[in-house]
Amino acid sequence: MVRAFEWLDDSSVLRMLDQTVLPIEERYLNVNTVDALVDAIVTLAVRGAPALGAVGAFGVAIAMRQAESEGWSEDRLVTEVDHLRQARPTAVNLSWGVDQAWAVAPQGYDAVVTRAKQVAAEDEAANRKLSKLGADWILARCQANAVRVVTHCNTGALATTAWGTAYGIIHELFDRSALISVFADETRPLLQGARLTSWELTQDGIPHVVEADGAASSTILSGKVDVAIIGADRIAANGDTANKIGSVALALACQRRGIPFVVAAPFSTVDLATESGNEIEIEQRDEAEVLGFAGVRTTPLSSVGFNPAFDVTPHDLISAIVTERGIVEPSAGKGRLSSLA
Ligand code: MRU
Repeated sequence: MVRAFEWLDDSSVLRMLDQTVLPIEERYLNVNTVDALVDAIVTLAVRGAPALGAVGAFGVAIAMRQAESEGWSEDRLVTEVDHLRQARPTAVNLSWGVDQAWAVAPQGYDAVVTRAKQVAAEDEAANRKLSKLGADWILARCQANAVRVVTHCNTGALATTAWGTAYGIIHELFDRSALISVFADETRPLLQGARLTSWELTQDGIPHVVEADGAASSTILSGKVDVAIIGADRIAANGDTANKIGSVALALACQRRGIPFVVAAPFSTVDLATESGNEIEIEQRDEAEVLGFAGVRTTPLSSVGFNPAFDVTPHDLISAIVTERGIVEPSAGKGRLSSLA
């Protein structure tokens, strides 16, 4: 299985697959400074909420090593760790991962590395568990031996520490011979679906087609799929879910068609301190990403871009939120995320 990153103990380096150039090129980045890590996060060389959680935790270790070698003051270390914590605002896993490691910083560098490794290991275990739960739930709900799936963005091994969330459920269904087909949305403007999900699906031998984001609601309304499965960047206490821009269109179409819309995420993506989606900060990215394509301007020079990276799907459109701790069914009013805490 592909890994988005690995921690090199000897050199205190995070070696990561540069996801900005996949699948054309398999290039690695060796990151050992806070600035380089923040840059990798902002440019999406490393991305996906659970991966950001683990990378954030290792980032605290990088900051501590840098503080030691460059003689930073305690204040400077705090500032740099905060800079890392805020590199991307919507995915709660990033700040969560940083906080997990920072909490043990008083015990020293080794304790921070140990905690970061735990965060990574726990994520993989969570993904494996939620994938089984999600596959069981979907087959029972669809009353089917096999299903056709649409998914949005990239939620596989590249977006996590291993295996994946929504992608993990797809993989689990495939392993059970319970998967008929996958529609992978391309994910404008940075093509995480077209470049990354299709790459993972190909590596795993899972049959799929890639469709434009704009095709997804028609695919759902015309009965070509049985279920939509997406990941999450932040799930509020009431179940409102922030995920890649375009997710809410799938949810609306699923409601209209009467098929399940499933959110899959480790519990580290649940933010009980945020009551509803109204309070979730949506990352606004550079307008250049939508005003051009592959670095070439495709719009009139006077056009202005609008580039929110995420949207919020209201909980009443979500059939199931699948976590490793259990499943809640917001649209049916069954279960509460707080009871899984
Ligand atoms: O901007 P990205 O590529 O980091 O967005 C990723 C997503 O929206 C994923 O669906 C989400 O982080 C869950 S990844 C398991």
